Amino acid sequence: MNREDFPILEQQIHGRRLVYLDNAATSQKPKVVIDAINYAYTHFNANVHRGVHHLSQVSTEHHEHARQTVAEFINARSANDIVFTKGTTDSINLLAFCLSETFEPGDEIIVSAMEHHSNIVPWQMACERRQLKLRVIPLCEDLTLDIEKLPSLINEKTKLISIAHASNVLGIENRIEQVIQIAHRHGILVAVDAAQSIAHSRIDVQKLDCDFLAFSGHKLYGPTGIGVLYGKEKLLDKLPPYQGGGEMIQHVSFQGTTFNSLPYKFEAGTPDFIGSYGLEKALEYVKGIGIDKIAQHESELTARVEQLLSEDIAGIKIYAAGQPKRGAVSVNVFKGDGSLIHPFDIGVLLDHQGVEVRTGHHCAQPMMEIMGVPGTIRISVGLYNDETDIDVLVEAMKKSVAMLV
Ligand code: ALA
Repeated sequence: MNREDFPILEQQIHGRRLVYLDNAATSQKPKVVIDAINYAYTHFNANVHRGVHHLSQVSTEHHEHARQTVAEFINARSANDIVFTKGTTDSINLLAFCLSETFEPGDEIIVSAMEHHSNIVPWQMACERRQLKLRVIPLCEDLTLDIEKLPSLINEKTKLISIAHASNVLGIENRIEQVIQIAHRHGILVAVDAAQSIAHSRIDVQKLDCDFLAFSGHKLYGPTGIGVLYGKEKLLDKLPPYQGGGEMIQHVSFQGTTFNSLPYKFEAGTPDFIGSYGLEKALEYVKGIGIDKIAQHESELTARVEQLLSEDIAGIKIYAAGQPKRGAVSVNVFKGDGSLIHPFDIGVLLDHQGVEVRTGHHCAQPMMEIMGVPGTIRISVGLYNDETDIDVLVEAMKKSVAMLV
């Protein structure tokens, strides 16, 4: 779908068609986004919120317009709910620092066993700093979240559940609606890591009723270095600021500093106003195609990956096989004697055939421990992948495995 919109895909890798299947790590950029960044630097590059001069005003208008577009994309109630960050990791670090400042020693936070390190480590650091306790929702045999166990992890000290919408390893979606309902029944806040779902499904934060949600622009066909922290305005308002300096102040003196209103209170330093412009163009591009159409297309592709690999490769193990996927499938190949062909070896051989996938632990080492492997081969699709890409992948896998068994 729309492969021709992505200039990078015109090139060959090792003399072969570039089959880019590492979209869960980052997506390629359509020409409209690349051109928009060029346009921004060529036409209105000036710092935002800081100048009475024309260029600064134009730049500010674009930046705030982008914030409004982001709010509409996820159906936030207001642009004040949208904090621009560097990406998902930055958003979660901001939240972990600021929220934990409002918690009391002994309070508890819950994450799940399938989280990316970016939704584990910031909370561990907050726990260390504020003497909080981290609890973990376990997984079932089939690697889905064991939601039945959630109520037993909750007590009067539980303040927050921070959970991935979709697993960056398995591509499966968590039943976050159910998690949010359970949490809210107990007066617990919920933060959603939407890094791996935002480009693959429709997200409506008001319908979900999540309290916070984080995602990156670069996985959504936008530039790197820009991300979003959504938060309900009344909750963000109660949090202390994060970093100091720049637009986050109202008044500074040596007697003390007062802070700006939302969302600027959380945006210290010069914001990425070029990135926000690029992100806005990416959102418009995705909207132009239709996120539901993209989701349908991608679920057909991931189903094809599962079907063809299981038919064609002896010893293949597809993790969470048969479960609906949000853009990603993880697999491994085992030899006849039960030993694992190291995913890295397959990744190198795939690359030699023009197929780019991610291999390794995918920044989810606790998940690898549960799965009992050092890593997986992760095939992750984007809107521009097609059946040819999947067929090339499967043929390349066959050849690679034949060389290694
Ligand atoms: N978080 C990205 C991934 O899972 C980098 O690959």
